[in-house]
Amino acid sequence: STFPFKESYPVVGLKAKPKPEWMDLIKSANISGFPVEGKNGAPSQAGADDPYCDWSFTGCTRPDDIVSCPKGQWGLTYDDGPTDFSSKLYDYLDQSKQKATLFLIGGQVVTYPDLTLRAFKAGHELAMHTWSHSYLTTLTNDEVVAELMWTATAIKDVTGVTPRFYRPPYGDIDDRVRNIGKALGFIPVIWNHDTNDWMAGEGNGFDVEWIDGNVTQWANEAANATVGGISLEHDLYQKSVDAAIRVMPTLQKAYRVMPVGECTGQQAYKE
Ligand SMILES: *[C@@H]1O[C@H](CO)[C@@H](O)[C@H](O)[C@H]1NC(C)=O
Ligand SMILES: *[C@@H]1O[C@H](CO)[C@@H](O)[C@H](O)[C@H]1NC(C)=O
Ligand SMILES: *[C@@H]1O[C@H](CO)[C@@H](O)[C@H](O)[C@H]1NC(C)=O
Repeated sequence: STFPFKESYPVVGLKAKPKPEWMDLIKSANISGFPVEGKNGAPSQAGADDPYCDWSFTGCTRPDDIVSCPKGQWGLTYDDGPTDFSSKLYDYLDQSKQKATLFLIGGQVVTYPDLTLRAFKAGHELAMHTWSHSYLTTLTNDEVVAELMWTATAIKDVTGVTPRFYRPPYGDIDDRVRNIGKALGFIPVIWNHDTNDWMAGEGNGFDVEWIDGNVTQWANEAANATVGGISLEHDLYQKSVDAAIRVMPTLQKAYRVMPVGECTGQQAYKE
């Protein structure tokens, strides 16, 4: 890319090291004595009593976690972009005047700065999905800081604004990760409705019509649900983008669909 980046970024797709001065930002964070959950791969569960509130194992949340929108409202989110398939999604969102929250991977932002800028100018909320899409609870404190801060830096470099929302890959978050994120001024966003559309690209027997079936069910539940939704979708494959476009009218008929910052009344950016 010929984009005039101000920063020089770590290798795309790999865990990174933080700038040393970033570690000062978490000096007063409550992180000593917390375990790193498993190493070099999938996280381990800290224990059946879940002392560190690990969402990916038990669904445990803390008050600052964003998990849902208020009743009748729906937070529309797409993870893992920008990719070669994002233009089609962005075109559709432009045409239907629909805004979303986009959880961008830092490495993808520096690979596709023009798409990132396009999404920002279109009025979507840009948010963080880490630098290398690693399991955050398995990373050291330094690595967690690097994952979040390099992604925030890349988005700022391209758009001029600093995102506040982050989504932990695989929903893998515990209190150590939360406390690091909080010290950096970031807010975690999980979800309460999963399309499982990340399986749409892998030829593993996943039937993309299940996505339509699930969304229809969520729409039917709208009247009696006590809270609204936040859905997990991905602009990662042709098939997941096609499904996202197909199901949108069903969602829009049942809910007021909007970015997460809008339904929760929280600022998407620091500036
Ligand atoms: C730090 O976190 C631990 C575990 O959640 C908690 O028991 C302790 O009270 C916290 N300390 C401070 C100073 O907030
Ligand atoms: C919802 O999706 C799951 C797979 O993610 C599938 O097993 C289930 O049949 C789907 N439900 C409907 C109503 O299509
Ligand atoms: C919603 O709740 C009412 C009252 O319990 C019930 O009669 C109705 O069938 C429910 N509707 C749906 C779509 O579940």
